[in-house]
Amino acid sequence: MASSKSMTRSAESATKRRLVITRQLPQPVEARAQRDYTALLNAADRPFTHDDWRSRCTAAEAVLCTPADRLDAEVIVQLPESIRIIATFSVGYEHIDLAAAAARNIVVTNTPDVLTDATADIAMLLLLGAARRASEGEALMRQRAWTGWGPTQLMGTHVGGKALGIVGFGRIGQAVARRAVAFGMRVHCLSRNKRDLPGLETQQHANETTFWPSCQFVSLHLPLTSATRHYLNAARIARLPRGAIVVNTARGDVVDDDALIAALSSGHLAAAGLDVYSGEPNFRAEYAALPNTFLLPHLGSATLETRSAMGFRALDNLDQFFAGEPPADRVTR
Ligand code: DGY
Repeated sequence: MASSKSMTRSAESATKRRLVITRQLPQPVEARAQRDYTALLNAADRPFTHDDWRSRCTAAEAVLCTPADRLDAEVIVQLPESIRIIATFSVGYEHIDLAAAAARNIVVTNTPDVLTDATADIAMLLLLGAARRASEGEALMRQRAWTGWGPTQLMGTHVGGKALGIVGFGRIGQAVARRAVAFGMRVHCLSRNKRDLPGLETQQHANETTFWPSCQFVSLHLPLTSATRHYLNAARIARLPRGAIVVNTARGDVVDDDALIAALSSGHLAAAGLDVYSGEPNFRAEYAALPNTFLLPHLGSATLETRSAMGFRALDNLDQFFAGEPPADRVTR
């Protein structure tokens, strides 16, 4: 005979909503998901195949996905009718076809705010790593090829007193600006209308003509849309002063790889610090071959604290939705 404890447990799981989680998440997030939902975890952390979407989502009402999942129209169309909400574990949502989701009446939410500081920290790490030739220095050490201190060895570029152009002056762009000011940098941004940013001194440019030539460093913080694909192209790079340094923590496709590689190879750009790549996890072999790149594998939000906060934020949105409230971070209309 079933014990009263196991009967309570099965009654509970009969009333809990079924939630599919596409990748392994920090343990406290999975624990909360399992407490509040019949959560189907992915302990093996293997990305979903095309067939997984239909089979694993059967009878589920919600999906908690990540930016490494591609929910294009083809995937969304084949999701079971029961799916009502997709909560992405990311601020970016270009990996989800919003029109296809809206056509199926599926709500989509994201996780803004909670990853601002972690991503701004990584942008500074890239900026400093690129300016100070950190990957060349690290390679010397790892190859045990360092022959000792030298007065002209691996001289980089000072960041203090330099001009940093921030493209995309939202939450993360502003957080990078505050950090850069603390390093003694002058912040430039592109803004058609004068913005009041208390406690932050910026040089605001109404047009690109004066912006690009002013930037000794550029940090990209644009969302990826059809309008921003290949935003940093050969023409814009050509307007940067020789020796400028580019940092990208936004999305790889915001950069035209051919143009960036050409400028890094010719010496027009001194260096680049990159955390994101077109076609991740693949990326252009030239980036790894060039000595003047500082490369990270999309670590912008990768701290335990931030990834936990992202998971909780995604679960908050699901809880609000199933309580009949508007989810705070809804990105579909
Ligand atoms: C996001 O949230 O969009 C980030 O790229 C994940 O680190």
